Amino acid sequence: MGNPWKKMTLEDGKTFDGQKEKGSYGDMIALKCEILWNIIKKYLPDDRTVPILDLGGGTGVWSIRLALEGYSAILTDISPGILERAKEKIDKESLSDKIIIEQADICNLKKYKESSFLLVLASGDPLSYCDNAKKALEEIRRITKESGVLIGEVENRYKMFDGRRASSWEDAKRILNEGTAFWPDKKNPAPIRQFSPSELENLLVATGWQLIDMQPSHLIFSLLEREILQQGLASKEGFKEMVVLEEKLRKDKHLLGCGFEIQFIARKAIG
Ligand SMILES: C[S@@+](CC[C@H](N)C(=O)[O-])C[C@H]1O[C@@H](n2cnc3c(N)ncnc32)[C@H](O)[C@@H]1O
Repeated sequence: MGNPWKKMTLEDGKTFDGQKEKGSYGDMIALKCEILWNIIKKYLPDDRTVPILDLGGGTGVWSIRLALEGYSAILTDISPGILERAKEKIDKESLSDKIIIEQADICNLKKYKESSFLLVLASGDPLSYCDNAKKALEEIRRITKESGVLIGEVENRYKMFDGRRASSWEDAKRILNEGTAFWPDKKNPAPIRQFSPSELENLLVATGWQLIDMQPSHLIFSLLEREILQQGLASKEGFKEMVVLEEKLRKDKHLLGCGFEIQFIARKAIG
């Protein structure tokens, strides 16, 4: 049983990017990125030459955004094919002097020295896809500087990625009881960790992180019917209104279990 992302090819990377550019899925990702960027901005280092580590960085959505803003990034991912796609995009934008690309499993970061990074990103759920989220969080803590920050996302057990992770009652029971979903490929049923908010909080604390905040992501998309979403997304103004509304709703702690993913911000705890 292997991590299916590892086997993805350049073509898979292109397909992955293509999905993000189209239709309601594209709108959902655009909204998420807008809000996550507003969070990331608050933790960017003053010195733009200090590299930001982008773990499970995929085809480069955050590394490219950071580089376009003048920051340096190290883009890592477990999948050589996905990184090939990232390289194509980085070269196209002439950003190769700002982004270093390295293959790395988020559970094994020994190529990086202790206390190296002020800001680490793990967006798009690599902690849900990896073999051992506890080990990954310990590794990330080791390479994060004192007072450094990790901004990450995990799949939310109570939304099961908009229901897509459960295809039967047996699946749903196992996910809700234990938090383990599986990729649909019967020949390679690799696990995907579905975190509950309290499980995530406990794991972060147990691995030496101080939780700054947890928020539900894709909240508006999780709460509203597609038809109503389309009305809101019909204009630039509507999109802006959605960003403002979702940012407001995210402050209601009772909604934490309602987003497709849980976003978190954590600081390296001292001692
Ligand atoms: C949904 S994509 C997210 C990409 C990007 N971070 C974003 O926010 O759009 C998940 C990424 O996690 C990577 N990934 C999965 N398991 C991983 C692991 N064990 N170590 C590092 N990356 C991993 C995948 O290859 C994939 O590129």
